[in-house]
Amino acid sequence: MPTADPPRPYRVSCAPGLSPWLAQEVEGLGLPVEKTDYTGVATRGTMVDGMRMLLWLRTGYHVLQRFADIRAVDADMLYAETVRLPWERVIPPDGCLTVVSAVDNPTITNSMFPNVKVKDAIVDRLLKIHDRRPDSNSSGDHAVVHLFWKNDQARLSLDFSGPKLSDRGYRREPGKAPLRETTAAAILREAGYDGSRPLVVPMCGSGTLAIEAALIASHRAPGLLRSGYGIQHLLSFDEEAWRDARAEAKRQARKPVGIAPIIATDLDPKAVESARRNATTAGVEHLIEFSTCDFADTPLPEQPGTVILHGEYGLRLGDPEELAPTYRRMGDYLKQQCAGWDGFVFTAREHAGRIGLKAAQRTPFEHGGIDCRLLRFELYAGSTSS
Ligand SMILES: C[S@@+](CC[C@H](N)C(=O)[O-])C[C@H]1O[C@@H](n2cnc3c(N)ncnc32)[C@H](O)[C@@H]1O
Repeated sequence: MPTADPPRPYRVSCAPGLSPWLAQEVEGLGLPVEKTDYTGVATRGTMVDGMRMLLWLRTGYHVLQRFADIRAVDADMLYAETVRLPWERVIPPDGCLTVVSAVDNPTITNSMFPNVKVKDAIVDRLLKIHDRRPDSNSSGDHAVVHLFWKNDQARLSLDFSGPKLSDRGYRREPGKAPLRETTAAAILREAGYDGSRPLVVPMCGSGTLAIEAALIASHRAPGLLRSGYGIQHLLSFDEEAWRDARAEAKRQARKPVGIAPIIATDLDPKAVESARRNATTAGVEHLIEFSTCDFADTPLPEQPGTVILHGEYGLRLGDPEELAPTYRRMGDYLKQQCAGWDGFVFTAREHAGRIGLKAAQRTPFEHGGIDCRLLRFELYAGSTSS
């Protein structure tokens, strides 16, 4: 079992634009945020910190531990520099290996080619040392090496996640236009949701916002929902430390007592059924009250809290203009029925003006390639804002 666990540099990647919320989460785990850019956060921590990030981060995609920085002007140099690195310290001789990459180098026209070069270099080195070659595999559920290569600078990292952390495993029924789990978690963070006040999610679709909220409210580590991480296929993997990190995460889960109601509704009974089943898979069905109704008929608890509407965009399949009356009604609903609540609408930017209420805050989000906004409305009791 490895004993020394010195701090090392990490990059945690995320969906475009989610890094401000990811940075908050990384800091919340007691780790430094050394740099933030549009698609990720640089931090530093031990192997155990890497495990905690896998288990706890709600807005991140991949946890990448830096292995080496090299200079490579072309693919031959990439091979030559990669084969010199001590891969035998991290990749098991009989394991499976996948290489993934993000490449912007003028000599590369086939995006798969650098992956093949890096994989060949690692395999050739291990073959020379152990006299047998690791298997190569593209499914991502084995040891994963990540190459980031821009111009002549290449960074090789170990992808502790394997599949994206947003693939929590609970959303077996995605429904139409679902939110990505990580985006839902960022929206809830931006809305200041912590489970202490009620949450109402009309137009819940497959239930992502309600399910992510229930996970936050019950302080459940999303990473416990899935098994199968890249880290488990590395030689440096410390099984005992992983068991401890998981056991600690389980201990931190909060009992339902004291969690304010979470209400999720949708007009489409099939969507409600899917949301309920997804919540069951996530183990939070008991924390969410589901029902089928028009958003304007969603029952509101007496104690005010947060209401979040995620309407359809109609950009790909329908005519966005057709949705104008629905957005207008959403504005009326917030103004007339949600006085005293924190009101939010998440939608494509072009629908923002159709709600008919002045937003106190507009937070940009990029979701599925669509320019979106999270609009916050101040809904004072007796408000006349329009
Ligand atoms: C963009 S989807 C919501 C996706 C959801 N956030 C998720 O992650 O799956 C919009 C949802 O609004 C529902 N919807 C449309 N019109 C509605 C209405 N008048 N009342 C209630 N729900 C409605 C649709 O059935 C659809 O499930």
